[in-house]
Amino acid sequence: MCGIVGYIGKENCVNFLVEGLKRLEYRGYDSSGICVLNEKKLSCYKKTGKIVNMESTLPSEVIGKSGIGHTRWATHGEVTDANAHPHLSANGKFAIVHNGIIENYQVLREKLIADGFEFKSTSDSEVIAMLLEKNFSGNFEKAFYQTLSLLEGTYGIVAVFADEPDYLMVGRKGSPLVLGIGDGCTFVASDVSAFLGHTKQAVYLEDNEICKIYADSFITTDFTLEKKQKEIATIEWDAIELDKKDYQHFMLKEIFEQPESVARAYAGRILADIGTAKLGGLNMEPRELAAVDNIGIIACGTSYHAGLVGSYLLEELARLQTVVHIASEIRYKNPILRRNSLQFAVSQSGETIDTLLAMREFQRKGGKVLGVCNVVGSSIARESDGGVYVHSGPEVAVASTKAFTSQLTVFLLFSILMGRMRDMSQYRGVQLIEDLQQIPQKMESILKKSEQIAEIAKKYAGLNNFLFLGRGISYPVVMEAALKLKEVSYVHSEGYAAGEIKHGPIALVDKNTPVVFVVPQDHLHDKMVSNIQEVKARGGRLIAVCNEGDEKIRSLVEDVIEVPKTEPLFSPLLTILPLQLMSYYVAKELGCDIDQPRNLAKSVTVE
Ligand code: AGP
Repeated sequence: MCGIVGYIGKENCVNFLVEGLKRLEYRGYDSSGICVLNEKKLSCYKKTGKIVNMESTLPSEVIGKSGIGHTRWATHGEVTDANAHPHLSANGKFAIVHNGIIENYQVLREKLIADGFEFKSTSDSEVIAMLLEKNFSGNFEKAFYQTLSLLEGTYGIVAVFADEPDYLMVGRKGSPLVLGIGDGCTFVASDVSAFLGHTKQAVYLEDNEICKIYADSFITTDFTLEKKQKEIATIEWDAIELDKKDYQHFMLKEIFEQPESVARAYAGRILADIGTAKLGGLNMEPRELAAVDNIGIIACGTSYHAGLVGSYLLEELARLQTVVHIASEIRYKNPILRRNSLQFAVSQSGETIDTLLAMREFQRKGGKVLGVCNVVGSSIARESDGGVYVHSGPEVAVASTKAFTSQLTVFLLFSILMGRMRDMSQYRGVQLIEDLQQIPQKMESILKKSEQIAEIAKKYAGLNNFLFLGRGISYPVVMEAALKLKEVSYVHSEGYAAGEIKHGPIALVDKNTPVVFVVPQDHLHDKMVSNIQEVKARGGRLIAVCNEGDEKIRSLVEDVIEVPKTEPLFSPLLTILPLQLMSYYVAKELGCDIDQPRNLAKSVTVE
């Protein structure tokens, strides 16, 4: 949450700051601002609303060879120009941008007020700028160290001082920051997408690191001033992947990328002739893997739903008992770590704070946690004990789509790998791998139905409550479908286990309730038919996602979206696609801000 950019170099940085913030807008978009330093004078521009609002307030001649910028997702203090970042110190000499929460800001603020400092905002972050001024006694760097030592909570901070134009100070504790090493300039940002068009050389900062950045160098220390050696990594993503191309929205583009992204998730990881998978990043010897007899999965939101699908796969294919935890719950529950257990932390961004902190809690207890992340070099990817990148490519829309199917693919590979180490025959493994390799082509055929799906979405878009029902491995699919619809269209929707509706939710059904059934031809098909009939008898509007040629289902429902047949355990990779598209088209019909839905941010880095 909140996006940070900073620059120091030879060029005027205003364009970079604004464009960089636009790249980070998915992290928060209630207000934004930039502050640039020119001839020892700081100029600050801030505005509520999208970045274009702030951009439109910039005078034509703003110049700065260094500067900082911020896009905000409010936590403390309402959405106002004054609460937007950057925040200036009382004397206007220090400016900061901050991502995170300063938990002791009230105490610090009261002391500063007693010392005569006047605050302009109600944000927790403003204390940082004031503390820099208060702690300054001739040395900016020292004042920065002192200030950080007083802060409790989480932060990624970049600070600039008007009288020291040659460097910026950067500090990280709990909120991601990465440096971009340019040609005669240095960038800093919450994630690499901000500077990807300028450099692919990145330095990831760790928690409790402070960095002094110059145009052509940087010095990193820990909080005890001990110097740290940092590696320069090369970013694999291309800037072009951050463009919408001809699509109207990133969400649509990312839905359509799934045949490719799923193929990328398994590329180079299958051993087709012996029917198994190889996942080098696990950092585990076969003997160690063979000793695992139970799995835990930690995640939030869509990644949690992917974990739930993963649990069906692991239990069915590898006969490994699997428990899936909502990260924000398990981290306060004193989790029980069973012997011979292996945990997965699943996160597209790799920065979700609850998942990261839950992962650390398991590690503290001696557990081994593997990351399933998309963003290379993210906190979870770096702090986990090994893992698997899902390789979806950058996901920009706040609503996660392609990361979900890539996460499922990784769980499939891992389940086949573990299955083959346990009871699964080579024959079964070979068959499964063949089925997996057909998925991208089957996805293509579903995407060709987007016009039909748009028509169905249009028909039901005016209705206020949707129910999504599924059984078995389709249950997490309907949970994910309901999440997708509510987040992009603001229409209330529930994803329920179809067998549970008689225990309450069927009371919601009336002639204005679209009920969407996910009903692939698996061992639960007949049970689903009964559930459909129960809802039909109560007058619901019935829609089904079923397999091609399923006349039984067609005869029972008002609208049908057919998907190709596949191995039943792989059906989530196909059945979710029409439901992602349906959410997209309902939101479009309702005129919603699809890529940046209200109140949300892509990367939830505060608790
Ligand atoms: C997905 O559409 C949501 N925006 C959200 O639930 C997301 O999946 C969740 O915040 C977890 O994010 P992560 O995968 O980056 O950890």
